[in-house]
Amino acid sequence: MIEPPPPHAEAVGLPWDIEVDDAVEVLADARRTYGDTFTVHSGDDTYLFTFSPIGVASFYDLPEESASKGVADFLMLRRKLPDEIFLGRRTLPHDLFTRSSTAGYLAHLDDALDATFVELGPSGEVDLFALGRRIGQRVGLASWGGPGAGEGERFHRLASAFEVLDASDAFVHPDAMAAVAASNKAEERAALEVVIDEIGTAIDALGDTDDDDGHGLFRSIVEAWADEPAPIAVRGAALDVALAHIASMSNLVAALGWFLVDLLEHPGLMAEVRSGAREPTERAALESVRLAQRSIISRHVLQPVLLDVGETVYRVGSGVTIATLLPLTNVEVPGYDEFRPERWQGRRLADVSDLGARELVTTFGHGSHLCPAQPFALAAMVRTAFRLLDTYHLEPGWSVRPTPVRTQIGGVARSAEPCTVRYVLRH
Ligand code: HEM
Repeated sequence: MIEPPPPHAEAVGLPWDIEVDDAVEVLADARRTYGDTFTVHSGDDTYLFTFSPIGVASFYDLPEESASKGVADFLMLRRKLPDEIFLGRRTLPHDLFTRSSTAGYLAHLDDALDATFVELGPSGEVDLFALGRRIGQRVGLASWGGPGAGEGERFHRLASAFEVLDASDAFVHPDAMAAVAASNKAEERAALEVVIDEIGTAIDALGDTDDDDGHGLFRSIVEAWADEPAPIAVRGAALDVALAHIASMSNLVAALGWFLVDLLEHPGLMAEVRSGAREPTERAALESVRLAQRSIISRHVLQPVLLDVGETVYRVGSGVTIATLLPLTNVEVPGYDEFRPERWQGRRLADVSDLGARELVTTFGHGSHLCPAQPFALAAMVRTAFRLLDTYHLEPGWSVRPTPVRTQIGGVARSAEPCTVRYVLRH
């Protein structure tokens, strides 16, 4: 399957298969024992992990048709989601991003922040990650859920259904996936029916709105199904919306949570953000994303590929998943475990001379799969932080910095502890 055979981490298991205390530490340990490139078996799957500078740079160069990110993501997320969400999609999450749609999403973000501030009221306590989730759900549903999806009772019904359909459970709580499989995804299927019902209502309402109503993306999702009879068209459009929503918001929401944690821990920076200075705020947002990354980045091999890791070139056969793990590479060079926004110049690292390869540090990806939502995600983080800090005085409720969920393997870290802040209106 892999020639020559790389070292095999015999006793190592991944958190979907065996109970592990800290999924990242397990692979860090394996690396200390087996070197920068080694295999791990997980169920019927073989993972080829690589961490060497040349290995990681070669990894990002692999072509999608031979070593697929799409298939690797599908294999990961199907642990949580019913297969029908992935099959037969006519609008894909990639299709969400053009310059004009980003401007539209930011307008929806402002509306979502207005609604959130009304919900928060003049003072109280809130968990930063729950707050981010609420804002993210609202922006997403207002942007691609059709008329009424981001408001009132319909928003609450959809938001609850999407809490159940949170695909990130597949990598944040990998240990819970055996129970999801045992139930045949019954709760997830019921939540999907709620989404289909609500999207049907939104499609009916679409006829009453004009072309310039902020629902252009939803209209194009619905039009892609116009050649089908009504029940199939509604279901098809609803599943397109569901996949877009599920695939899109969870990393942004988690990144926003850590960004706010980091700002609260750096009062000087917080003052700069509050003054509306965009560049330093964006640099800090990138730094928060870098340190909060817990992603396993993977490619499923569909036809044999060569992977150059420096001292060896491996021929990797189909069926193997090649992977690297950002929480190891992003912080391994001395000094990279510190929060230092000034290491960024624009959206690139100012100086990579101390890294073996630029690709050893990843926030939004490299090469052909670079995140198409990066400009939107950064603009959304900057805007949300600015408006929240301009509106409220925030005081952290924690005395020790919150830590990531230790079983998590994938995505941006979620917090293991509550991240409660006390807030009070500033004006
Ligand atoms: C702070 C928030 C976000 C972070 C840190 C992030 C990070 C990433 C990374 C690292 C990749 C590359 C993964 C790989 O190479 O396998 C990626 C790809 C992608 N992201 Fe994001 N992302 C964020 C927000 C979003 C949002 C809000 C959306 C959609 C609304 C989105 C949609 C996508 C899509 C569609 C891809 C796949 C691109 C491709 O395969 O060509 N991301 N993201």
